Amino acid sequence: MDDDRDDGTAQDGLLVRESLERVRRRAGHVVRYFYAHLFQRHPHLRGLFPEVMEEQYDRLFGALVHAVEQLDHPGLPAYLEQLGRDHRKFGIVDADYTAVGGSLVAALARHSPLTWDDPTQAAWVRVYGVMVAAMREGAARSVAEGEPPHWRATVVTHRTHAGHTSVVRAAVHAPYPWLPGQYATVEHPGLPGVWRPYSLAGDAGPEDRERVLEFHVAHVPGGALSTALRDRTEPGTVLRIGAASGTALAPPPGTASVTLIAAGTGWAPVKPVLAELLARRPVPRIRVEAVARGEEHFYDGAVLDGLLRHHPDLTVHGWYEERGEGRARATERLHDHLRARRDWAGEAVYLCGPAGFVRGTVELLAECGLPPGALVLDPQPGPARRRGHVSHAEAFLDPVPVAWIDPAARTRPLDLPLAVDRTGG
Ligand SMILES: Cc1cc2nc3c(=O)[nH]c(=O)nc-3n(C[C@H](O)[C@H](O)[C@H](O)COP(=O)(O)OP(=O)(O)OC[C@H]3O[C@@H](n4cnc5c(N)ncnc54)[C@H](O)[C@@H]3O)c2cc1C
Ligand code: HEM
Repeated sequence: MDDDRDDGTAQDGLLVRESLERVRRRAGHVVRYFYAHLFQRHPHLRGLFPEVMEEQYDRLFGALVHAVEQLDHPGLPAYLEQLGRDHRKFGIVDADYTAVGGSLVAALARHSPLTWDDPTQAAWVRVYGVMVAAMREGAARSVAEGEPPHWRATVVTHRTHAGHTSVVRAAVHAPYPWLPGQYATVEHPGLPGVWRPYSLAGDAGPEDRERVLEFHVAHVPGGALSTALRDRTEPGTVLRIGAASGTALAPPPGTASVTLIAAGTGWAPVKPVLAELLARRPVPRIRVEAVARGEEHFYDGAVLDGLLRHHPDLTVHGWYEERGEGRARATERLHDHLRARRDWAGEAVYLCGPAGFVRGTVELLAECGLPPGALVLDPQPGPARRRGHVSHAEAFLDPVPVAWIDPAARTRPLDLPLAVDRTGG
């Protein structure tokens, strides 16, 4: 019986992937048709999406396709449950899931007129149904636990360093549960419908961290939300926050020695992970390696200085470029230092920074002999990579996923809920 079910699931997976492959070259048309179909039949859904959709016209569609491509991944159900919990922020009801599924099937069928048949359609309906069931389950559990659909948080302090990185602290109106290493999606009142993920960076203990959230936002030139969070945010601004997500948590209790490596705003998740490690008894041996473009870009240096005063056993190195040096010098210095170390046995490493930096450092750590299971990775996505696609939308049907649509982008490498784009940086 189980074998039959497994065969059926595998067959469904094959059919939906084949049908995606057939529309790959017409992806731009499929996406536009999908949204036109959805908004024409269900106009009330238009208001859930950002007013200007050109840059991320295909976020939801791309996410659906991405999930379908990962059907066999053992982490998919947990990922979808988390996504359903997070989707409560959109205020969607059961009928909306049916609407989206209908428009997805309509768009695919319309663009594969010669090959679309009943078995393909039935496979899509079943696959979408399984995904929706997991999302609804996650949402129902969140309701049962008394969580709100989203949290409101009033900004209490806002400071921008070197015109580039804004540290935003906001008091939540209801307790907000999260774990060091997780992230949350954030919406600004000036940009309704534009949600982006940011690491939760507060370093207080479990009770206080549920009340005041901290985010470290690097400005992306021309970026919608990072610009609003830098230029249009001040004490009193009320942000909306989605449920905490992500599985790149601190190394497990009992870990004797930990190296925390952070580049740029990669420091954001490392900060609460460090605080959690320092609160353990016994305190593990901790080494912090912080990388920045220049000395002035260590935007949270005062916090590190304070920690060093209170924890004399803590080792902290800052790696940065001197004026006039090339952009890669800070990373090279860190890598030389790591290469010279001989004490990797039993070490756990937590690594977060731009995707290119993370990729290079993972390779170096492998050369040093660090086993992959000892590493928690937290790559930050860079600009979307376009690989000669005819349209923006086409990239989403490409096997390389676009990172910022994937809230699970930060994960333990051996426990990936979904594949991650580690491009850019
Ligand atoms: C799990 C996760 C956690 C994250 N945590 C943080 C964090 O703690 N701090 C933080 O600052 N950011 C973080 N990000 C990135 C953040 O979510 C946004 O993608 C980023 O702030 C850009 O959003 P935007 O609305 O300003 O730009 P958009 O309007 O989305 O993009 C505008 C243009 O900029 C390009 N672009 C997008 N991101 C980058 C980039 N990083 N560098 C260069 N070009 C880019 C896009 O391709 C697009 O062309 C995280 C992302 C993920 C997936
Ligand atoms: C199996 C079903 C679904 C999957 C796998 C899915 C997945 C995703 C993912 C991964 C994102 C990007 C992350 C985020 O912004 O939170 C997203 C965004 C979004 N989803 Fe869903 N979703 C599903 C169903 C729905 C439904 C039924 C609706 C209701 C209309 C919906 C509305 C949205 C909206 C409004 C966004 C933000 C879009 C944007 O920023 O442009 N989703 N979805």
